[in-house]
Amino acid sequence: MVIFRQFETLLKHLYFLKKTTNGLGFGFVPTMGALHEGHLSLIRASRRECGVTICSIFVNPAQFGDSNDLEEYPKPIEQDIELLVKNACDILFLPSVEEVYPVDYVNQCYDLNGLDLRFEGKSRPGHFQGVCNVIYRFLSLIKPDFAYFGQKDYQQTVVIKRLTEVAQLNTIIRVVPIVRESNGLAMSSRNIRLSASGRNKASFILEGLEILQKNFRVQGISKAIDLVSWHIASFEGAELDYLIVADSTSLKEVKDEEHTDLVALIAVNYEGVHLLDNMILSQ
Ligand code: PAF
Repeated sequence: MVIFRQFETLLKHLYFLKKTTNGLGFGFVPTMGALHEGHLSLIRASRRECGVTICSIFVNPAQFGDSNDLEEYPKPIEQDIELLVKNACDILFLPSVEEVYPVDYVNQCYDLNGLDLRFEGKSRPGHFQGVCNVIYRFLSLIKPDFAYFGQKDYQQTVVIKRLTEVAQLNTIIRVVPIVRESNGLAMSSRNIRLSASGRNKASFILEGLEILQKNFRVQGISKAIDLVSWHIASFEGAELDYLIVADSTSLKEVKDEEHTDLVALIAVNYEGVHLLDNMILSQ
């Protein structure tokens, strides 16, 4: 695996690869490091589809509201590099903050059609604009054919698809299914902040989504949401932040169970950790 820290050297290398590899696709996996199986599934998806896989590790200050959160974000870089090598990633891009946001960088505000203000956006103002700023920098310079994101952050995937439209980026966005721990908890860098017993019990989030999937057609969306709320509330210390059934493309809330293309989005605060999950609802 080759490591680059500057756009200039990375882009030169990619230019050379494009010329010599006869049109192999370039796949890009942006991450903030602290890699787990969820990230590795993105690397594997890129390797299946593309000739060259580029992963970036960059803890993006623009998407953190709280500077403590940013400072405390785990940075196990040696371990991350080892995992990327083991998973046959071709290129790691490891830029500094100054490289991504030079002194003359002007923060952009994208027209996200309100997608950035709902659900996760409510409690984290500016978060999705921060994500879009970094993703625009990467996609507009690296110009990968495909970029891979985890379905676990469903709202983020919808926001990024919108970004590619409004900013006219040519990269195709691929959404890779959620990878779960053995008890069903969606993999996330945040899971390490749970106690061992909390991590075990947190299977109630997926159970909640399964209750919704099982009941919403027959009982109606709002009754099914009540059933899930009671289930979550029965676990001490678990607080349901939101549970929304929405159109899977527009993310507009849906109350009518006959609507097709539905996604259920859930966020639960448990042991001080904000846990996200979601499920595409089948008919
Ligand atoms: O999902 C993440 O880890 C980050 O939001 C991303 C997409 C790498 C942008 O910093």
